[in-house]
Amino acid sequence: MNQVVRYKDNQLHMESVALDSVAEAIGTPFYCYSKATIEQQIAACKDAFSRLNATIHYAVKANSNLTILRMMAKAGLGADVVSVGELERVLVAGIPAEKVIFSGVGKRQDELLAALEAGIGQFNLESLPELEALRALCQRTGKVAAVSVRINPDVDGSTHRHITTGVKGSKFGVPMEQLDQILGIITESDSLQLRGLAVHIGSQIVTPEPYRKVCERLCDWITDLRSRGFPIEHLDLGGGFGIDYGDGHFLDFETVASVMYEHLQKMDHLNIAIEPGRSLVGEAGVLVSEVIYRKEAEPLPFLILDAGMNDLMRPALYQAAHPMQPLRDGDQAQEVVNVVGPICESTDFFHKAITLPKIEQGERVALLKAGAYGAVMASIYNSRDIIPEVMVDGDQHAMIRRRITSKALLALELSE
Ligand SMILES: Cc1ncc(COP(=O)(O)O)c(C=O)c1O
Repeated sequence: MNQVVRYKDNQLHMESVALDSVAEAIGTPFYCYSKATIEQQIAACKDAFSRLNATIHYAVKANSNLTILRMMAKAGLGADVVSVGELERVLVAGIPAEKVIFSGVGKRQDELLAALEAGIGQFNLESLPELEALRALCQRTGKVAAVSVRINPDVDGSTHRHITTGVKGSKFGVPMEQLDQILGIITESDSLQLRGLAVHIGSQIVTPEPYRKVCERLCDWITDLRSRGFPIEHLDLGGGFGIDYGDGHFLDFETVASVMYEHLQKMDHLNIAIEPGRSLVGEAGVLVSEVIYRKEAEPLPFLILDAGMNDLMRPALYQAAHPMQPLRDGDQAQEVVNVVGPICESTDFFHKAITLPKIEQGERVALLKAGAYGAVMASIYNSRDIIPEVMVDGDQHAMIRRRITSKALLALELSE
């Protein structure tokens, strides 16, 4: 992975654009993505999974910006969506409906209908009532839906291959003990066409072992299901490939593709799909912010940023740490500080006791690796703006989503 940002003339650059110049033009905070990095990640992913002949369905939830979706469309990727809103976006971006997979445990009837009418390629079913809802809609509209069943493969280990313990507490996937019943209903229905099985074992996975385990189990299950007459021809292995958030742990496409290939090459007539999200866009994005105040305190000073947990929720949500760099590279001494946002919540922390070059009030910083699950999770908490998104391409940059101001949001609540 090439460095996404680097110093040139003491200024932090993304490709050939000084991030400070973007900040001068549009103000802070904002998200900024490198087009070249996303293109490299797409190419690396396609390359690694070509030996499996896998179709790649970008998990839109990671970053649903239309410009990024258009890049996925241009590269020939499909999409994995979890709402009608995401479906609308991918269709506008030019991803053909037949390359769209619809995932999620709680698809509403209107969403199922919209996807059916759009003619999407695959519904990943997660429960019996969802199956019944889709079947009823198909009967009403005379349409046929291609479906896969998402199972929870219980990768933490169980003794009996058809009874899992891990599924008991998880809302995702069909419990293994219901699989036969569900497959039976699908194969008997004229409205539903069985494609196969789907799994997604988690996100930010940094070792290949869980994938090895899941592939081993799936090979056994598929062989067994086929021997009992269920035509399983598709296997969707989900996403989850971890990126390096600064601790040196990540799972590269080559490694995970090799492990999958090792196990799945022996399976005849099995079409493989994957749904990577974070690994395609996570490295490519930064969140640029300004230090509003430098507050001296014991035991450590605080850098109070103008970006908060409403802009980048990952640290508050799951104690994620995004590496941080000042936009100006000087010969400042190092110091240990706390880095926080301005939101009235004590979880609004970006870093506790981080060592950084001394950063003054008014200086700008970049929180790195913020391309996935960043802008998409933004909220208006504390009546704040939804911040803009920018794409850098060589020495050019363009606003790819304008700021949504708190004033515009207020207007939605004012009577005519
Ligand atoms: C069903 C499904 N597929 C794919 C993904 C993408 O995961 P990641 O962004 O970790 O690759 C997710 C994310 O949680 C998911 O729920």
